[in-house]
Amino acid sequence: MTQLTAPVPPVPADVPPGGVAWLRASVARFSNGSDHARRRALAVDLLAALDAESLQDNAFVRTQRIMTDVEDVDVMAAIARPVPVGVLAAALGLPDVSAEVALVAAAYHPHVTPSDAAEAAMARLVEVCGGVTELAAARIGLLVQACDATAGLIGNALSASLAGKPGELLTDPPVLRTRRRIGGENVTVELAGTPFGAGPRECPGSAHAIALATGVLEALRGFRLTEAETAWVSSPNLRMPAVLRVTRGSSAGGLC
Ligand code: HEM
Repeated sequence: MTQLTAPVPPVPADVPPGGVAWLRASVARFSNGSDHARRRALAVDLLAALDAESLQDNAFVRTQRIMTDVEDVDVMAAIARPVPVGVLAAALGLPDVSAEVALVAAAYHPHVTPSDAAEAAMARLVEVCGGVTELAAARIGLLVQACDATAGLIGNALSASLAGKPGELLTDPPVLRTRRRIGGENVTVELAGTPFGAGPRECPGSAHAIALATGVLEALRGFRLTEAETAWVSSPNLRMPAVLRVTRGSSAGGLC
């Protein structure tokens, strides 16, 4: 676990302003030293202004609204990604930019070459978040960090519960591994036993994520899986369903 206190692999700093590479170069997640401390403080302050109970209520209401009248729906695409990000964006005073956030989230990590669509989405996020500033990057960073991880929290809990194996929300964490720079090498570090990381980079959004996931899951009570097999995301670092189709119904396997 002490490995988690090591620095993160550095990302290029001399990059064009406003793109995905600029986001990486401007958020706490990929920064070290005093840059990390200052940028993390921005993220922590933004999150401290949000009320977890309202996030939970709004996630519940938004999910219920989407699920009204649906017959058969992929919860990952229709709910688990857009709802937490949409609720968080509204709480931050932003329009619903969940589609843009999903595109940028898919290109966020440094080994990915951003698509044109991701760069266009990034331009829109910079515009609504206040321009090319460190504070705007912190706001975008919160939405992007929330996207896949909170979708995974929801998807894993729902998948287990609907398969008749209900556990705690954090039994099956979605983020399995992270990266650090140790002895001059970039290494993969296991997060086993720490759903939200640990040390100076521990997730500052854990309470918010739990509130959002709880609201969503409450609104999904009474649905059941329509497919016996779950398709999982193929990523070494994330464990979460790629698709989770559900329908209304109260047969065995319903969320209880
Ligand atoms: C509202 C939702 C969320 C927000 C706003 C959020 C925000 C953040 C931010 C800003 C960081 C970077 C912290 C830093 O570098 O100092 C971070 C790190 C982290 N988050 Fe979250 N997060 C959310 C949800 C989640 C969820 C659901 C999980 C998994 C269960 C998760 C797991 C992590 C982990 C493991 C790290 C540390 C990564 C590392 O040490 O390399 N986050 N999060």
